[in-house]
Amino acid sequence: MKLKFRFVYMLIFLGLAIGVFFLSKSFYQFWDLTDRSDEVYSEDVILDEQKQVVFITEKAGHPYWEVVLKGAKLAAGDEIWLDYQGPSQSSPEEHTKLIERAIASNVDGIITQGLDESFIPVINKAIDANIPVITIDTDAPQSNRIAFVGTDNYAAGLQVGNYVKRNFTGPAKIGIISGNYYGGHMQLRIKGFKDALKDHYDFQIVSTVNSQINKLEAAHQAYKMLKENPEINLMFGVSALDAPGITSAIEKSFPEREIFIIGFDDMPESVEMVEKGQIQAIVVQRSFHMGYKSVQLMRKVFNGEPITPIHYTDTFILEKSTLTYYFRQKEAEERGGFR
Ligand code: BGC
Repeated sequence: MKLKFRFVYMLIFLGLAIGVFFLSKSFYQFWDLTDRSDEVYSEDVILDEQKQVVFITEKAGHPYWEVVLKGAKLAAGDEIWLDYQGPSQSSPEEHTKLIERAIASNVDGIITQGLDESFIPVINKAIDANIPVITIDTDAPQSNRIAFVGTDNYAAGLQVGNYVKRNFTGPAKIGIISGNYYGGHMQLRIKGFKDALKDHYDFQIVSTVNSQINKLEAAHQAYKMLKENPEINLMFGVSALDAPGITSAIEKSFPEREIFIIGFDDMPESVEMVEKGQIQAIVVQRSFHMGYKSVQLMRKVFNGEPITPIHYTDTFILEKSTLTYYFRQKEAEERGGFR
């Protein structure tokens, strides 16, 4: 009898030990950022001459892109001269003109978003001129770009929808503020979100508007939306500055309304809003890593190494309970402790 008990205890102990092992493993797998700072350049290719890479994003000087650029600069080192450009206001016309200009200057490589269909011919033109193009953050899969680095935007939209289903007890009347209408990234995120909520009749999207990836515009649009739709109780900010814009509109004009907010990207103010409980959750993209990886791949292209076309970077749901983990990993990432 005694022996039987001992055996049962041993089994329970073993089960617990295995459980703890797998839990901690999956927890750390998201970023996999154990400090490996000294390894950062170890697998990089050494180039025999300095290369010029133009890095073009939908808006210059945007805080989200500043982080991506930091990662890109770290990977560029002294061997790649990174020229950062972007329109002063998000505009596919201006953006594609900058790509045209880079082709005319015969740069060595181009890293850019592929926002919509108007990017396909210009990307193909660069490839035809033997200038490698890597898309970042927003893909142009129908173009001849060499590779894409960034979030799987559809999957991230699903992630938002599933989070909402788990954490919000309906009925929900939803307002969406999207960075723009034309961007493939925004469209995929919204599609994923809607698909996740498809079978939930309690969740209804009441209105969708766009912010031109501008915080003031996001706040203005949120104000108008909430005024016109007093039933809205859940808001989704699809691009980086939308959730902070929504939050400031609520703070200022509708402090009495209880609205569940979910957004994208770990802009410092958004993280603070999560800490204060104003934003329920944000989907953190690995923007720094995206930048790093894009340049690392370009370096391989310069060296004639084959690269695979799709490089999805992880996303992570930041909410109050994951803040401590987030801060630790973020710090390690900025020190370059990753592959
Ligand atoms: C997107 C970027 C966009 C930024 C704008 C991010 O969520 O990934 O493509 O430029 O938001 O705020």
